[in-house]
Amino acid sequence: MPVTFTKSALLLALMLGLGHAQAASPISPTELAANEGIPNPAVIAHRGASFDAPESTAAAYKVARDLGADYLEMDLQRSKDGVLFALHDNNLQRTTDVATKFPERKDSPANEFTWAELKTLDAGSWFNAAYPDRARPGFVGLKILSLDEIIKIAEGNPQHKPGLYIETKEPKQFPGIEADLKNKLLDKGWLSSTGSNQAQKNIGVGQGKGRVVLQTFEKDSLKELQKEMPNTPKILLLWVGEGSIEPKSKVTFAESGEPSKAAYYAKQEPKDAAEFEKWVDEAKSLGAIGTGPSAQLTNLGDQSYSDLVKPEMNQLTHDKGMLVHVYTVDEPVDFDKVMKAGVDGIFTNRAAELLKYYKRWPSSSVADLLQDNGY
Ligand code: G3P
Ligand code: CA
Repeated sequence: MPVTFTKSALLLALMLGLGHAQAASPISPTELAANEGIPNPAVIAHRGASFDAPESTAAAYKVARDLGADYLEMDLQRSKDGVLFALHDNNLQRTTDVATKFPERKDSPANEFTWAELKTLDAGSWFNAAYPDRARPGFVGLKILSLDEIIKIAEGNPQHKPGLYIETKEPKQFPGIEADLKNKLLDKGWLSSTGSNQAQKNIGVGQGKGRVVLQTFEKDSLKELQKEMPNTPKILLLWVGEGSIEPKSKVTFAESGEPSKAAYYAKQEPKDAAEFEKWVDEAKSLGAIGTGPSAQLTNLGDQSYSDLVKPEMNQLTHDKGMLVHVYTVDEPVDFDKVMKAGVDGIFTNRAAELLKYYKRWPSSSVADLLQDNGY
């Protein structure tokens, strides 16, 4: 009979000689989120409204902002000459025309390009080719954005100011990026908390304590983030695989015979309950106020990973006084599934759909917002 997480948590607590007070929940997720100034549940626009517009561009971030998303999510990198910018992939091939503009360097990491070089790239046309049903002439020629530019977008709608949910992406490639980020946020006035949670209600999350949430998969980067910005909420991202939670099975995707990565990940699970709990405990001990686990999606697809938001996992995390923000969920059937499992926030490419699911009705349609913003 499989051992449940609840029993395992209890057993581990007993084995470690922990008393009842420590095993019990010290604070409810609702209280914790309120204390941190983080909406609960939180709508985290993953790379902006990236279903509707090219990811991490002005079009995607402006639409997410104007829809009323709580956070603009980004993957932070640093150019060769020190500019902080948003890009998910390690190189520029998938989302830009680097192969045309810099053919001999098309496979190079983005951090080997200067900011001036990065700004010559078209970060929008790939989307029109990949998704012809969502294509728009206004997406052609969209640029990679610096953190400065994304901050300006976040501050740009007086009716709603979203926060920033910033991931240090492959931080080993960027020594000191945590300090660079702190200096930038300080310079822009984004680390000084202003306004009470009550006051935030009408203006969005972007002017209160939880206006910035920091996220990373890397424990070393979490340590640096905690050192540099001890009062800013942090999330340790979780998945099953190298560098994160140890899997029960060491069989690789290639060896597995599964038809897709999603099918493979669906069968991946933590080695045991103690392994999962170890990561939650480490996240907390390193200063995180929550975890960002992966999810298995109903229709699988390339964003479907190991299911780390089972109800007992979320309960265990809550019992330790931590929040759960799950990535990356786009369909109502999965919004429902993860909310019923107990998560406190969702990374989504479809902020419009998630807001509707929460009955937070956007004032305009995505199409109107794209048009209003010039796309
Ligand atoms: O940051 C949460 C989620 O975005 C992690 O996955 O690969 O999309 O950055 P990824
Ligand atoms: Ca991310």
